[in-house]
Amino acid sequence: MQTQFANAVTQKENGTRLGGSILRAGGLVAFPTETVYGLGANGLDGDAVRRIFEAKGRPGDNPLILHVAKKNDVKQLWTRIPDAARTLMDAFWPGPLTLIFNRSSAVPDEVTAGLETVAVRMPDNKTALALIREAGVPVAAPSANTSGKPSPTTAEHVRHDMEGKIDLIIDGGPCRFGVESTVLSLVGKPTILRPGAVTKEMLEAVAGPVALAPSILAPLKAGETAASPGMKYRHYAPDAEVLVAEGAPRQAASRIARAYDARAMRGERCIIFATAQTRALYSGRQYVIIGDRNEPATLCANLFAQLRAHSDDVDVIFAEALPEQGEGLAYMNRLLRAAGFHVLSE
Ligand code: TXA
Ligand code: MG
Repeated sequence: MQTQFANAVTQKENGTRLGGSILRAGGLVAFPTETVYGLGANGLDGDAVRRIFEAKGRPGDNPLILHVAKKNDVKQLWTRIPDAARTLMDAFWPGPLTLIFNRSSAVPDEVTAGLETVAVRMPDNKTALALIREAGVPVAAPSANTSGKPSPTTAEHVRHDMEGKIDLIIDGGPCRFGVESTVLSLVGKPTILRPGAVTKEMLEAVAGPVALAPSILAPLKAGETAASPGMKYRHYAPDAEVLVAEGAPRQAASRIARAYDARAMRGERCIIFATAQTRALYSGRQYVIIGDRNEPATLCANLFAQLRAHSDDVDVIFAEALPEQGEGLAYMNRLLRAAGFHVLSE
């Protein structure tokens, strides 16, 4: 398949118009959102949705998010709109918050992977919203990466994984947040299944107590079922090994420096994901600054791009753990999965 490219700035309406017609015809279109790039198909067409799973190599039991261009569009997708959803949509839509509730019969099984619930969000990105409007249907879209790889935060990442497998890539520049949306289930007690830029603290300020799914910071135990099927797969993994150092900044940095020196001695190529606060502690070693520890959003914005950039030019990537508050929780959720939960203990 020949993949077409459109630039969201220079070819504005043309790109989204072409994208809309491809989506209506059952094809696949990658598009920018404020979180990561999505790989879209007509969310009401089971055959079109099946093509997403083929292009990504995604396990068939991992459900997709439907993207809408206005709040009222959830009406046709859920059995009803719970009060909590109205409050949360008013506070955070458009934005990086996905809400899960009981699905209506309009939603094909291919989207929900057979579950009785469906995830919906309204992205905060002009190109994404224009594309959904042009399509005239809810757009099913997972992140536009090969399954298991870091989510794409630029059109170039999408091209790397998807060229030849999809119809169109719309380039809208780098994504603002760089980690995927917060996924919140409203079936029963509100529960965060995946943390994101809309934090637990922000949700609780408008909607009261919110629980965290146990799988957010820990691997699933044998026999445990995932609240969110996506949580059970190896995720965000570059080819290089990733190791996480816990502890206060100085302690984490000295753990990293020791482990780095031991690995380098064995001839392994290493890189450190340093922060503004710790860079001076890594002198003489290879590092990149991925953000400011006091602003976890800066680390979130760079994590996937840096994992991709160093996927195969080094053997080991070292990264510091952050406190699991605010956006630090989203960062740790992604970093620990990229590391396969390998934490430096010494
Ligand atoms: O920011 C985002 O959410 C991006 C952009 C493109 O919108 N999309 C995204 O989709 O990250 P995906 O498919 O890569 O991740 C969706 C997550 C998966 O972990 C999936 O298991 C979970 O949401 N999910 C979807 N529907 C669900 C449902 N009905 N119940 C539980 N988990 C669900
Ligand atoms: Mg994904």
